[in-house]
Amino acid sequence: MNGRLFDDSELAPGARVLRGFALDYAIDVDAVAAESPFRHMVAKNGFPMSVAMTNCGPLGWVSDRTGYRYESRDPLSGKPWPAMPAEFARLARDAAASAGYASFAPDACLINRYEPGAKMGLHQDRDEHDFGQPIVSVSLGLPAAFVFGGAKRSDKTVRVELEHDDVVVFGGPSRLCYHGVLTLADGVHPQLGRRRLNLTFRRAGPAVP
Ligand code: SIN
Ligand code: FE2
Repeated sequence: MNGRLFDDSELAPGARVLRGFALDYAIDVDAVAAESPFRHMVAKNGFPMSVAMTNCGPLGWVSDRTGYRYESRDPLSGKPWPAMPAEFARLARDAAASAGYASFAPDACLINRYEPGAKMGLHQDRDEHDFGQPIVSVSLGLPAAFVFGGAKRSDKTVRVELEHDDVVVFGGPSRLCYHGVLTLADGVHPQLGRRRLNLTFRRAGPAVP
């Protein structure tokens, strides 16, 4: 990690931080989590991830020893993932448009729950069908250090602090950039308590699901 950003609104060409963008949207994950609870999925190496996850929308991201993929059903229940609330989709579309990506229609929303000590290593989001669509990432709750690099794992990274209601959009030339989240520091958020939630909206399947 070497970069330090002063104007942090553009992380890289095609990638923007929209500070406070989610403020006017009612994003409540409790109804989703009541149907499809947060769980610690097992990574390809067989170890459970420190971040707990669930999904909503037609497709959900899953991981197990066989690898990463999207599935239309929650493997815990065998039932379809909860529907994506209209307000979630509206936030994702508006944020994408505001970053220059018109007509984003996500079919998957991965919800990550970080408790103090949880982290997400550098990775690319590359399990989706169409890299022409951006990723929209919404942060709620405790602040986290987000790192954003280039197309190669070894490329230098910049680091930004993401706070409650911040939204990151990365697409176009930055769609396959490596990114990750450093270990979450302890704290208590006034609305969400001792946790950070991150929602990533993706177009996972082909254009018409
Ligand atoms: C992700 O890359 O899926 C999560 C990013 C974040 O938690 O900010
Ligand atoms: Fe990611």
